[in-house]
Amino acid sequence: MSSQSLRDARRYEEENEQYILPEERPAFHLSSRVGWMNDPNGFSWYNGQCHLFYQYHPYDSHWGPMHWGHAVTTDFLHWKYLPAALAPDSFYDRDGCFSGGALAMKDGRHMLMYTGVRKETAPNYRTKEVQTQCVAFGDGENYEKYPGNPVISWEDLPPESSKYDFRDPRIWQEKDGTYKAATVSYSLRKYREVVHDRNKNNSDGLLASTQIHEEEEGGQVLLFSAQDPLHWKFERKLAVNGYRIGRMWECPDLFELDGKQVLLASAMDMLPDGLEYHNGNGTFCLIGSIDPETGRFVSEADQSVDYGMDFYAEQTVLTPDGRRVMIAWMQNWDTCNLHTKSIPWFGQMTLPRELSIRNGRLYQWPVRELLSLRRDEVRHENVRIEDEEVELDGIKGRLVDMELELKVGEKDKEGHYGFHKFAIHFAKDDRYHTGISYRPSESTLKVDRKFSGSRRAIIHQRRAYTKPQDGVLRLRVIIDRFSVEVFVNDGEKVMTMTYYTDIRADRISFFADGAAEFSVTKYRLEEEQ
Ligand code: FRU
Repeated sequence: MSSQSLRDARRYEEENEQYILPEERPAFHLSSRVGWMNDPNGFSWYNGQCHLFYQYHPYDSHWGPMHWGHAVTTDFLHWKYLPAALAPDSFYDRDGCFSGGALAMKDGRHMLMYTGVRKETAPNYRTKEVQTQCVAFGDGENYEKYPGNPVISWEDLPPESSKYDFRDPRIWQEKDGTYKAATVSYSLRKYREVVHDRNKNNSDGLLASTQIHEEEEGGQVLLFSAQDPLHWKFERKLAVNGYRIGRMWECPDLFELDGKQVLLASAMDMLPDGLEYHNGNGTFCLIGSIDPETGRFVSEADQSVDYGMDFYAEQTVLTPDGRRVMIAWMQNWDTCNLHTKSIPWFGQMTLPRELSIRNGRLYQWPVRELLSLRRDEVRHENVRIEDEEVELDGIKGRLVDMELELKVGEKDKEGHYGFHKFAIHFAKDDRYHTGISYRPSESTLKVDRKFSGSRRAIIHQRRAYTKPQDGVLRLRVIIDRFSVEVFVNDGEKVMTMTYYTDIRADRISFFADGAAEFSVTKYRLEEEQ
């Protein structure tokens, strides 16, 4: 039996989606059916379809009491909306159904596990959100919450874990049938870091400068297990932040890929670390193994997952043909002010990306299904430009898949490259443009939406270290109406950014400060098939 709140939400989305015209939405990225969307949830295969739920506030294009929106696809490009799956209608989730995962069960049911949020007034009158883990079971469209919810509550947490930051379960089933859930939580335990400044030794060899940092450990990933989906127990801590990457963590994902264990999560309140991690919210990847004795994740390498501004709260799914595919919210809590009144919805997902591990790094590539949308190939080879901006025949559009090889070459005797800066401008008209630029002397690639029509003082540019391979920088640039995803050097890095420029701005140009040579292949992406 669905609740009144869920029936209201379903009626509302059905009545109101007609007011959003197809051309006001992205063409092949999933956007909110109505209202607001954030994290992807419950990314799973069930009964021959890929299901994606999402954090959803149907009634407004701003964040509010969280529901779960729902869509299905078989090719990751064409999505069909289904009625909202969950509404905040029970005692334990009355203030929101936060993020979680899904699982196709052996008995034919689709299981959801999500975070139920209930506000509580603390003795100092401040409101805090108690977070517990809840389950619901369904048939791919209608879901019944388990009356005994929550199935994991704060009493199940290890000592010194906050009951207010405990969320985002990711569930799976082991070969032996055991159910597992990885959640994030906040560890209040003190973490003590002793830092010696080796440059400041006294002449007698004693350390002159020793600093002690003491902070709470912050984000941690906890593992729970169950023999049946209703009775869970805490198993162990998988990973603890210790203030290395941001403070609290969100939305964990754990899987095996190319012989390695991979732990993905999003971090809040990060401090920058070179151009690897940026201030604010971002998503990171740990590559390593699980220690057989302690069960802890042993990290061999860590990196950002995306070097642009709009990528957060990733989830992955294993496809029936064995691909590990990742999707994320193509926005970020720090960039929500990009919201403009002319867009009646807010929030879209990234293009689903196939993952692999190469050279100790996480590689990403657009799902291969995207090739089926390519139309009208245009190729320009060995184009040379010098201190000029040019537009090339047949290269324009707001639905574009474009591959570019830029000859960067070697430094000359004076230590200079042939050009100082190379740039592509797109979503361009006489007033606006969105840019990608490369400076070989700094080895930096930059995405830039400063001139994309934003009226807010939020971050509009971001850079990533990028080296050419054999003297050539390769970019694959995927442009939808309101976003760009730049895949660098076969997917070694990705930079993702949204922008909401008037869709009539569809010119594309190439610019060089100095002399540059490049080849470009461009396809129009077909919206409907
Ligand atoms: C991440 C997040 C999750 C939470 C959800 C709430 O973006 O903060 O941790 O479950 O969004 O909408």
